[in-house]
Amino acid sequence: MPVVSVGAGGMGRAWLEVLEASPDAELVGLVDLDLDAARRAAADLGRPDLPLGRDAVELARATGARAVVDVTVPAAHHPVTTAALAAGLPVLGEKPAAATLAQALSLVAAAEVTGELFMVSQSRRWNPQVSLLRDAVALLGGAGTLTTEFFRAPRFGGFREEMEHPLLVDMAIHAFDTARHVLGDEPAAVWCTTSNPPWSWYRGDASAAAVVITGGGARYSYTGSWCAPGEETSWNGRWTASCAHGSVRWDGDDEPVVAVAEDAPAEVRAGVDALLAGPRSPFDGIAGALAVFCAALRTGGSPSGEVHENAMSLAVVEAAVASAGSGQVVDLDELLEGARAEAVAAERDERVRERLRAWPGVRAALAAPAPA
Ligand SMILES: NC(=O)c1ccc[n+]([C@@H]2O[C@H](COP(=O)([O-])OP(=O)(O)OC[C@H]3O[C@@H](n4cnc5c(N)ncnc54)[C@H](O)[C@@H]3O)[C@@H](O)[C@H]2O)c1
Repeated sequence: MPVVSVGAGGMGRAWLEVLEASPDAELVGLVDLDLDAARRAAADLGRPDLPLGRDAVELARATGARAVVDVTVPAAHHPVTTAALAAGLPVLGEKPAAATLAQALSLVAAAEVTGELFMVSQSRRWNPQVSLLRDAVALLGGAGTLTTEFFRAPRFGGFREEMEHPLLVDMAIHAFDTARHVLGDEPAAVWCTTSNPPWSWYRGDASAAAVVITGGGARYSYTGSWCAPGEETSWNGRWTASCAHGSVRWDGDDEPVVAVAEDAPAEVRAGVDALLAGPRSPFDGIAGALAVFCAALRTGGSPSGEVHENAMSLAVVEAAVASAGSGQVVDLDELLEGARAEAVAAERDERVRERLRAWPGVRAALAAPAPA
């Protein structure tokens, strides 16, 4: 699959390495508004002659690329992806789907109207330990309570230290997306409170506690801080799932630890034993996302991370931010419909605007498989 990659920043460089090593994709061009940044990244990759450009669609036409990998800043995700889909190019984009939920819904509708695949690379989904956690939770009868603790003290400098909600918006989306994946259930309501400890080096709130109530009645709680010196958790956080027939703990780095209840049915214990003895998921990180994206283009299937399915993770982030502001529990359906109204008002493409309007409900539209 010949692809152009867009964005030659920190994460863009990581994608270039993965694209170069991939047996499924061929890197045929690199795009950045900053051509010097693109030139430096191509040279550092050992591809000084790689075709460069400032526009993904133009460079794709010139190089024969048939797909786009979008690793630009979140504010550019909507324009870059919209243009690519309209030009008949499927897109694999970095998280978040877009800078706002309204823009993400516009991209969902654009994917429907164009019939092109837009998959969001939410890299933790492709962690084999997350797959094990999810499978173990299912075997134990599903989780009633799932928790994530995230405590780290990075000093990034730059935009994160100026954001209003750096932890929720830039980091917690990974945990929220993983929680949806592990629970296999969608959020119905979110409550959140945020704070900025007196010793924080962030302008915005670097600590947060959020509770997500799912449609099936499970409770997911997230507590975290980005200014937490001392004993730090892994970058994935520390997870505990409490299930009908046992529990699963995951430190975010090593294999999850499954504890089957003593009185669990024999078939549950046998299932867990088989899972632990069995093979691990072959997909990992962004290389896994790329392999799944290319396979979906070959087979026409709808992969995990496809934008219909992914948008709800951004909805949880926006719900958490709204709840932190109001002090109220935020109903996800109300939030989704408000974002649709915002998307309709801002939409410039008539076909996309009509599609947004035609959805009977946003939740139902997101749950429906993307039309081929
Ligand atoms: N999955 C992860 O673990 C992970 C980690 C870091 C970053 N990310 C995500 O990756 C994305 C990029 O992050 P980063 O840290 O590399 O940012 P960055 O600021 O280092 O780089 C972004 C690049 O995009 C370019 N750009 C901006 N608008 C553009 C446009 N319209 N067209 C072409 N190029 C444009 C910029 O010039 C810059 O070179 C973000 O969405 C971020 O959330 C994901």
